[in-house]
Amino acid sequence: MEVLFTKAVIDRRVEELADVISRDYQGQDLIVVGILKGAFVFMADLIRALRIPCTVDFARLASYGSQTESSGKIVVTKDIETTIKGRDILVVEDIVDTGLTLSFFIDMLRKREPRTLRVCVFLDKRERRKVPFEADYVGFHIEDRFVVGYGLDFNEKFRFLRDVCVIEE
Ligand code: IMP
Ligand code: MG
Repeated sequence: MEVLFTKAVIDRRVEELADVISRDYQGQDLIVVGILKGAFVFMADLIRALRIPCTVDFARLASYGSQTESSGKIVVTKDIETTIKGRDILVVEDIVDTGLTLSFFIDMLRKREPRTLRVCVFLDKRERRKVPFEADYVGFHIEDRFVVGYGLDFNEKFRFLRDVCVIEE
């Protein structure tokens, strides 16, 4: 497998993101919402790099697509447990690809009327969008290649890798 981003490169970028987010949310009551399973590694690093306090919650979404692509039919298999009305919410996800998962989830959360609602993704495959979606914070923009590691999987494998690697087709 080809290494795309080493642990050292990832660590540096996560620190940069955390600096920007810490500044943007200074003095606010931040709730970080992770989307399982993919976001758990990134989110764990991100919140520990923040210089502001936060609370965390998680949702689990399933899309029942093929092995490498979401179907567009998104199902919430575990909802968040926090009341978000009037609160400041930062959704954290491993990757935005077609945009179907995040646009569905953000529409769902927006109906609960948070004060602010932003999205931080570790990776962005912009050229693959099927619906328009822009994350507020992006770790890295990548080309249309299937990547694993740092929480991202292929068939539930490789989430534990410290580097982000490309799976050869
Ligand atoms: P979207 O709904 O197409 O934006 O896809 C989002 C989900 O597809 C992510 O949360 C990942 O679970 C999965 N995904 C998309 N591209 C990749 C990849 O390159 N590696 C691993 N998972 C991916
Ligand atoms: Mg995912």
